[in-house]
Amino acid sequence: MALSRKTFLRVLGGGIVLAAGAAVAVPRLDAMPAAAVEGWRGPGAEETDPRRRALAWALLAPNPHNLQSWAVDLSRPDTILLHVDAGRLLPQTDPFSRQILIGHGCFLEILAMAAAADGYRAEVTLFPDGTWTPDKPVARVAFTKQPGLAVDPLFAQVPRRRTEKGRFEARALDPAHKAALLAGHATSMLPLVIIDEAAAVERLRRLAIAGSEVEMNTPRTHKESIDVVRIGAAEIAAHRDGISLKGPMIWALRQVGAMTPAQAMTPGTLAWNGGRDYVMAGYASAHAFGWIASADNARQTQIAVGRAFVRLQLAATALGVALQPHSQTLQEYPEMADLRAAMHRETVTPEGATLQMFFRLGYAGDPGPSPRRALSSFVTA
Ligand SMILES: Cc1cc2nc3c(=O)[nH]c(=O)nc-3n(C[C@H](O)[C@H](O)[C@H](O)COP(=O)(O)O)c2cc1C
Repeated sequence: MALSRKTFLRVLGGGIVLAAGAAVAVPRLDAMPAAAVEGWRGPGAEETDPRRRALAWALLAPNPHNLQSWAVDLSRPDTILLHVDAGRLLPQTDPFSRQILIGHGCFLEILAMAAAADGYRAEVTLFPDGTWTPDKPVARVAFTKQPGLAVDPLFAQVPRRRTEKGRFEARALDPAHKAALLAGHATSMLPLVIIDEAAAVERLRRLAIAGSEVEMNTPRTHKESIDVVRIGAAEIAAHRDGISLKGPMIWALRQVGAMTPAQAMTPGTLAWNGGRDYVMAGYASAHAFGWIASADNARQTQIAVGRAFVRLQLAATALGVALQPHSQTLQEYPEMADLRAAMHRETVTPEGATLQMFFRLGYAGDPGPSPRRALSSFVTA
């Protein structure tokens, strides 16, 4: 029954106001700042350039550590020149920028979908200046007006897509969802595997946990994450990137000085243990894992993997399936070599092939959007 205004005022007058105020105030402590997630509304009415409109959607792409390492040049008419922002790389955990390029593949896929939905064909030429190095463009994208283009059904999922980093619900992956994801991926040249058999899931879970522990216990690789951790609402609002630590618990820990980057770097502290427990609880709750491998590891292939991966995550979003990549055990640095080899064996990735994306699949409530930088921060005209 809806409260009339009179009843409502009586409730307030009866002393509920303070309790209600507190109930509202507590969850707002270190909540996600609205400006940091405004991008999830898509392009504003002021954006009339079709390239900028498509970019406003593309910036919502999943990407490693949410660094959003894109730099866009719009100086040529009807053309987008996409570069990697060389100041936003992960040299310790992604020494060959393989994951960064996968993120750019995700970006290009959403860009093309958004352009088509707006009546433009986006023709993508990869690596127009030759083999990619951080100073050379990833892609040149030519926009041509072409009314009547089909709107990709996955496009509607772009603002709803999330990477679920917390615990999954305690239920198995619905076989119908597994079948739909596998079928949706069949058009791609890249194999998709989804494993939900308990013993295999347990072996994969152990490998994922071991990989995460190696990364956390190797100071230079752990530091790469800690350097992009944004602790509390003010830091999140200032950066609008990286890994957001937010909410009343983070706020409370900040008040007692127990949540600082230095502490998060130091095993045994509340901050370090809390980070580890959070990650491990995520793996413990996984009932299915999946992966995308590729026969070669060419730059073009990394882009194709990104395009396929984001389509998979959007298809999962449509089905209500949550997905979180796990990259640690796939990473190419010496301390991870043995586990990486073990992961290749467990996933039966052939000799010479590359395990590109590995992820857990399940169910969870909406964790809310992660921050995005403003379009103006990475676009030059
Ligand atoms: C190549 C690649 C690797 C990723 N690896 C991880 C990972 O190891 N762990 C994780 O939690 N998320 C991973 N992600 C997801 C990003 O963390 C996520 O996209 C980013 O934080 C933005 O959040 P959103 O996807 O909810 O927008 C990865 C994404 C990409 C494209």
